[in-house]
Amino acid sequence: MAQIIDGKVIAGRIKDELKGRVADYKAAGVEITLAVIQVGCDPASSVYVNNKKKACEYIGIKSLAYELGDETTQEELLKIICDLNNRDDVNGILVQLPVPKHIDEDLVIKSINPKKDVDGFHPESVGALCIGQPGFVSCTPAGIIQLLKRSNVDIEGKECVVIGRSNIVGKPMALLLLRENGTVTIAHSRTKNLKEVAKRADILVAAIGKPKFINKEYVKDGAVIIDVGIHRMENGKLCGDVDFDDVIDTVSAITPVPGGVGPMTIAMLMNNCVESVEIQRSK
Ligand code: GUN
Repeated sequence: MAQIIDGKVIAGRIKDELKGRVADYKAAGVEITLAVIQVGCDPASSVYVNNKKKACEYIGIKSLAYELGDETTQEELLKIICDLNNRDDVNGILVQLPVPKHIDEDLVIKSINPKKDVDGFHPESVGALCIGQPGFVSCTPAGIIQLLKRSNVDIEGKECVVIGRSNIVGKPMALLLLRENGTVTIAHSRTKNLKEVAKRADILVAAIGKPKFINKEYVKDGAVIIDVGIHRMENGKLCGDVDFDDVIDTVSAITPVPGGVGPMTIAMLMNNCVESVEIQRSK
């Protein structure tokens, strides 16, 4: 029987651990504050932003909401970020992506003080991860490492295949698996013989963006599968990048969709907010 890796339960435990740390900081007179900026009213972004605010409330982190209209200029947004960078009472700054087309996303990410970059998207954060130095780590891949560790999946020496090379998931995921001494391959849409490459994996991370793309032809017997995808099907139900029913008898462990990787992203964002206090005290 395959182990179903329950992200909801694991994220709940992490949030409860963080709640204790936040209470300790509060008792010592430190209130942790996260600024959440959303530009425009993309409905999916609004759901994510609301969930982030709710998680802050649960853990005891103060959240400052900036809900900016679609017409907000790049200059206006950069000015808000600059002000938040300079505020001693703000620990974390997050700009929900995507931003409207007239705003340069890379410039926005670069304008956030790396010591407040709780998303881990700043080039300085990514560079630090690449060379094994301390810094914020992108939340979804950091959450996946927690899922594996807390489900007793050993990474050291394992064949790890990450399908997808995005800056937010695929690339940092590969670096984190490498940091845990995995043997790492990044595959992507141009990879030849993807089935054979995927089938080498002891740990397969699917971040492709195509519903139910991975079936049992891509999966080695006994593999651990982490499904990063989330898609709404025509029948209204959610599914991942993996055809769960097709692979379930082949795998040794798998994350479901929903309730696998998703809840971990916010739990790790909360973790980064708590860590930000020490990161700001250092250097
Ligand atoms: N859009 C989709 N995922 C994310 C995320 O993790 N952080 C931010 N800021 N925007 C996103």
